[in-house]
Amino acid sequence: MSDASLAAATPAAAPVQPLLEVRDVDKHFGPVQALYKVNLRLTPGHVTALCGDNGAGKSVLTKCIAGIHQPDGGAIVWQGNTVHIRSPRDASRLGIETVYQDLALADNLDIVQNMFLGRERLRMGGLLDEDSMERAAAETLAGLRVTTVRSIRQPVASLSGGQRQSVAVAKAVMWNSKLVIMDEPTAALGVVQTRMVLDLVRRLRDRGLAVMVISHNLNDVFEVADDIAILYLGRMVAQDSASKFDRQSVVQYMTTGGQLRVTDGGPASKTAN
Ligand SMILES: Nc1ncnc2c1ncn2[C@@H]1O[C@H](COP(=O)(O)OP(=O)(O)OP(=O)(O)O)[C@@H](O)[C@H]1O
Ligand SMILES: [Mg+2]
Repeated sequence: MSDASLAAATPAAAPVQPLLEVRDVDKHFGPVQALYKVNLRLTPGHVTALCGDNGAGKSVLTKCIAGIHQPDGGAIVWQGNTVHIRSPRDASRLGIETVYQDLALADNLDIVQNMFLGRERLRMGGLLDEDSMERAAAETLAGLRVTTVRSIRQPVASLSGGQRQSVAVAKAVMWNSKLVIMDEPTAALGVVQTRMVLDLVRRLRDRGLAVMVISHNLNDVFEVADDIAILYLGRMVAQDSASKFDRQSVVQYMTTGGQLRVTDGGPASKTAN
């Protein structure tokens, strides 16, 4: 195919507008400055991996987006408008769901009850509309091809880590989230369950959601991420498409905040200071 026909077949894609932008966000706890002028862009239909060593600020940044912490400075921009996310409820209202591996679900409740917790459907007369909730839960799980749970009426305590993660994600999807944030979703999982969760992440992306995955695991990062963002001691030292990184450069950013100049005339090095 000639260059000209290739160009005609694949017109230049319009730049995708970010769904959420973090602009110059600062956050401190007493004398500890956890985030310094952090910038981040999350785009619909993209998986962004947020990387960084222990204590880099990944969870604090996530909590600023999820409404648990309030930034001291800077702005959070949602679909082009500055927003103040004062609580997790504010975040859900916008369409932001955060999935924490252990905290997201109530163990003693079954899958359906968990997915509708606090947002139960009622029938006329005020009784719970179990049939309709069960149908919606089953459809959502099937739509995400979560097929390994035996019954949607089994208590969440009896699920594997990967299944719990899937239910938490399905809950986010059912409530029309636009952004799903997953904090270390595969940290406690075996090989098969990790694969299941990563497949789910791809499916969310393919549905046009923005997904941010916090991970220490570079296998996972390079398997699912379209973009990689790296925090180092509270500073965002790199964010670019995943194809611009390799393992060595990610590790370098994570451990030193910059990239070594290894080759003569190679790619420009560090962005950090
Ligand atoms: N509530 C808090 N009060 C005081 N300091 C905090 C608080 N939360 C976080 N910090 C500090 O902010 C910094 C960033 O912490 P954060 O939890 O975001 O790290 P992280 O990148 O998520 O690390 P990990 O990979 O270990 O989860 C750390 O120095 C931490 O001690
Ligand atoms: Mg953390």
